[in-house]
Order: sequence, then structure tokens, then C-alpha cells
Amino acid sequence: MEGTDEQVNLGIDDLPVRDELRGKSPYGAPQLDVPVRLNTNENPYPLPEPLVERIAERVREAARDLNRYPDRDAVELRTQLARYLTDSTGYEVGPANVWAANGSNEVIQQLLQTFGGPGRTAIGFEPSYSMHGLIARGTGTGWISGPRNADFTIDLAAAERAIAENKPDVVFVTTPNNPTGNAVPPETVLALYEAAQAAKPSMVVVDEAYVEFSHGDSLLPLIEGRPHLVVSRTMSKAFGAAGLRLGYLAAHPAVVDAVQLVRLPYHLSAVTQATALAALEHTDTLLKYVEQLKAERDRLVSELRATGYEVVESDANFVQFGLFEDSHTAWQKILDQGVLVRDNGIPGWLRVSAGTPEENDAFLDAVRELKKEQST
Ligand SMILES: Cc1ncc(COP(=O)(O)O)c(C=O)c1O
Repeated sequence: MEGTDEQVNLGIDDLPVRDELRGKSPYGAPQLDVPVRLNTNENPYPLPEPLVERIAERVREAARDLNRYPDRDAVELRTQLARYLTDSTGYEVGPANVWAANGSNEVIQQLLQTFGGPGRTAIGFEPSYSMHGLIARGTGTGWISGPRNADFTIDLAAAERAIAENKPDVVFVTTPNNPTGNAVPPETVLALYEAAQAAKPSMVVVDEAYVEFSHGDSLLPLIEGRPHLVVSRTMSKAFGAAGLRLGYLAAHPAVVDAVQLVRLPYHLSAVTQATALAALEHTDTLLKYVEQLKAERDRLVSELRATGYEVVESDANFVQFGLFEDSHTAWQKILDQGVLVRDNGIPGWLRVSAGTPEENDAFLDAVRELKKEQST
């Protein structure tokens, strides 16, 4: 954004910002105005009209009380989130196990503010969700980039060694992983948990932002008897509500008590709580779109393979595909055909989110064209 002349001449580094922020750029996928946008793992389906009506109704009710601060503990919302988790996983949790915030990014931030911070470290196994490292930096937590195998599975022996050597305070495991799409087997998560307990003991955060799209089950039941295990979730993907900004976690009640030490008072607005509650009333309808997206994801995988691309097995609503000699040039060529995918900077690979059947057709046409060009 532009300022006055005097303002434009001043850059971030002219300000007394923290040393670790100097020379850095903010996180953000390009928001380009192109016909087909498949770059941010959003759900392509707008909310159904009856839900839009219900949101309007609940927000209207909430508006009558906007002179008051909202429920600071979001009890009704946490109760409904706990019900959703119990119904969808068969593992019973209650509101005391659940905490909600403005997107799972804020959940992660609160976890790092509570268990990380200056003088402490967190580890993730990369490539993975880059915000884990960025939020670590924002909270003054040291970041350790742990290893993965060439096929993007977690190299367990190397990961256990990294945990034993570095003794991190927080261990992130993203399953299904973003940007690669593969899920982490429960045995691996358990082994990492054991390694983290032997080393410190540390908190293990299982980021399940995409779990509803998985062929397998949620790892939520693993919190049983493991007070240092946290499962983080979001309504941005499966619920198709990225604009709502609602993330949540499930863990031992002591973890929920601990994050209250850092949360801002009244962090979840009454409007957010009302909207999320309306969406949760329509869980069954919203999750029907998940089934369609899973089918489209599987179609993307098989069509990409049939076209001669390599694809990482996906349990998410996106697919990582390659191999390109120069992935940025490939990204640009796909964009030139009106389709925006994601270049996460992983050499040779690009990521595409599953869209509507029509959007996916447009994407498949573009990558078939690219393949023809590459082989001539
Ligand atoms: C693995 C992972 N975790 C968390 C998030 C953040 O989601 P939210 O919209 O809930 O902040 C994302 C978003 O892309 C993600 O990919």
C-alpha cells in the first residue's frame, strides 16, 4: 500500500524492529485475479443458502448484544466443537478439552506463546506448513528444520535423533502434511511423542487442518493419557469457512487452561462465535462437499499420473505434482492459461488444490498442454 512521499521513503528496516524480523517478508500466497484459483487449499464451494440465512439470523441476534464483550470462554462454541469431534471420531471429548481461536494459525501462535518463546525452540519436519516456522519466529521461539525422506515421508530415525540432540520444547507434526499431501502414520506420531518425552519432555502439536479429507482416521484418540499431545484443527478447509477464521485444538484440559495465560481477553468476537455456531448446525451438509472434493482429489491424482506427472499420494484437498526442471517457469506457464497453482519453492514440484470439477478440468487441460510443450 502506498503512503505520502515522505512515508514511502521509509522502509521496515529504517524502523527499530526486532533483529530477527529484519530483511524478512510477510507470509502470503499471491492473490491474483485469474479465472481459476487453486493455490490456497480453500474449499471451492460457497456456503449453501440456508446456512447463509442461518448465519444472518444468528449474527442479527448477536448484534443486539454487541455493546457487551463476548463470552470470553466461548463455552457454547467449544461445546459444539467438542460434539463435532466426538461424533466424527468416536472419541469422546468435552468443552474442557477444546479451545478455539481466530484460525488455527492463532491456535498455533497461542501454543508457541505458551510453550515456546525466547530461549526455547520448536521443530518441524520440512517441507511442511511454513507458518509453523514463521509463527515460531514471531513469538521469539528458535526454529529447527527437521528432515524428511526424498519421498516426503518423515525419516523417523533422523527425526528421533534431531529431537534427542536439540531437545525442542515444541514438536510439530502436520498430518496430512501441507504442501506434500501425505498423511503421517499413527505409529510415527507415537514414536515422535516418545522421543519428545524422553528428550525434554516437550509438547507435540499434531496439525490436522486437512484431516477430514484423509483416507485414514483422525489422531485425536491419541490424546488419551498423553497430556503433552495437542491436536489442532480448523473450519477453514472441510467446513468451507476460510473467511470465518475459526481454528481449534483438542487436548488435556490442563493444556486448555495453559493457553488461557496468553490469549487476549475476548479474542473471539461475538460475530465469529455466532457464525461458527451456525456453520456447526450445518455440519452434515458441509461435509457432503468434502466427499465430492475427495473424489475430485483422487481424479486429479490419477489424471496427473496418466499425463506423465509424478504425484505424491494425497490425503488432503490438494496434490503435489512434478517433476519440473524449473518449477517456477512451469507455474508461470500454467498461470498463462488462466490457472493459479502454488509454487512453494520445493525444487521440481508444484501444488494444486482440488477445485470444482470445471476448475479441475481447466487445470488438467493446462498441465496436459504443458506436458506436450515439454516433450516436443
Ligand atoms: C497445515 C495447516 N495448518 C494450519 C493452517 C491455517 O489454517 P487457518 O485458516 O485455520 O488459520 C493451514 C492453512 O493453510 C495449514 O495448511
